[in-house]
Amino acid sequence: MGELNLNGFDSHEGNVQNPVDQKQKQGVKLMKSLAPPLMAAFLALSPFFISPVSLGQEIDVQRGATLFRRTCIGCHDGGGNIIQPGATLFSKDLLRNGVATEEEIYRVTYYGKGRMPGFGENCTPRGQCTFGARLQEDEIKVLAEFVKSQADLGWPN
Ligand code: HEC
Repeated sequence: MGELNLNGFDSHEGNVQNPVDQKQKQGVKLMKSLAPPLMAAFLALSPFFISPVSLGQEIDVQRGATLFRRTCIGCHDGGGNIIQPGATLFSKDLLRNGVATEEEIYRVTYYGKGRMPGFGENCTPRGQCTFGARLQEDEIKVLAEFVKSQADLGWPN
């Protein structure tokens, strides 16, 4: 267990083999002596706290919330709809209006619908699209996921 490879422990530690100054070397030594117990704790906890999937989802929710605040909140604050009260982003309206899946939410956000402008880069016809900044496809995807998950939870955010 003397030569524990820290590369797999944290990708930012990938330079342990390179020449480093004395202070950093000591730090690495300390890391090595602490590594076995830390590794044990890391392995024990990782399925719950450091699983890449839940971390990725957490990041997407935050990204979705940021995009939503920037682009949608003017009309859809809290998941509502200030222009058309029967077309909120709550599940019961989404279901009734046939916009309950992520794909449908994506489509409405990309191309618009009625008095809602579309935000997709290639949204057509022009009159149905926003005069403001367009959104990238992956941004619309993150937004659709965010709206769907918020609808499922009753708009806690
Ligand atoms: C200028 C106001 C406005 C903005 C900004 C806006 N919307 Fe809308 N949105 C509407 C209106 C109006 C409707 C109802 C359209 C209809 O059904 O004819 C709607 C409907 C929707 C629906 C379908 C809701 C339902 O129950 O039928 C979704 C999903 C949606 N918007 C998502 C978004 C997202 C995501 C954004 C931000 C990228 C956004 N909207 C920005 C006005 C807006």
